[in-house]
Amino acid sequence: YSDSEQASIAAAGEIAALIRQRAREGRPAVLGLATGSTPTRLYEELVRLHQEEGLSFQNVVTFNLDEYFPMAPDSLQSYVRFMREYLFDHIDIRPENVHIPDGTVPADQVAEFCRRYEEQIREAGGIDLQLLGIGRTGHIGFNEPGSGAASRTRLITLDHITRTDAASDFYGEENVPRRAITMGVGTILEARRIMLLAWGEGKAAVVKRMVEGDMTDSVPATYLQKHASVHVILDEAAAAELT
Ligand code: F6R
Repeated sequence: YSDSEQASIAAAGEIAALIRQRAREGRPAVLGLATGSTPTRLYEELVRLHQEEGLSFQNVVTFNLDEYFPMAPDSLQSYVRFMREYLFDHIDIRPENVHIPDGTVPADQVAEFCRRYEEQIREAGGIDLQLLGIGRTGHIGFNEPGSGAASRTRLITLDHITRTDAASDFYGEENVPRRAITMGVGTILEARRIMLLAWGEGKAAVVKRMVEGDMTDSVPATYLQKHASVHVILDEAAAAELT
């Protein structure tokens, strides 16, 4: 797309089409959602479609990719707060259908929490469409370099570059949590469809590695090459290094 505005509107349109199709079939649409700067315009468009074009989220179930750890849900930087602010507070989704990894779980119970998160995804029938951004490290979710294709939902240590990129949100890198809970690469690869969004020249190099590089743990996003249905949605700047 020539710009991220057009790209975001097109991506939101695909999500809306899925939600409407599932509603016609009389079953829920299960969405995997991302946070960060990339999908904000897309969420704004989903809110508009709800408010102006009658798009209902009553039959939508969501699972977010990740959350910082530890993180209180009402914290300025929490992904719970982010999702409320950009999407959930403005649509008719049922609160019980929203799932976001819990940054308040005691450390010795995180493994059990993660196991249960995976179970909830399975019980919901699996993810129909997973929305992704990409980090400069090549992470999807918070699967930093070193994350294998079979990795599952777990507690991870954030990469230095990721913490640098988050520094402004936390008023300094020293305040950025060192860990996060994230769906695994294996969890993400089980989604029926995947839509990865990236904007701007800062993402051009990692987009090239993801699309054209060899599959490797060093760039976990390369594992998307294994998946049968991935749409990579880019603006011109993010696509600039593709051959
Ligand atoms: C967020 C997430 C991350 C971001 C990535 C890009 O839930 O899982 O992988 O998608 O860090 O972040 P932005 O969009 O801020 O460039």
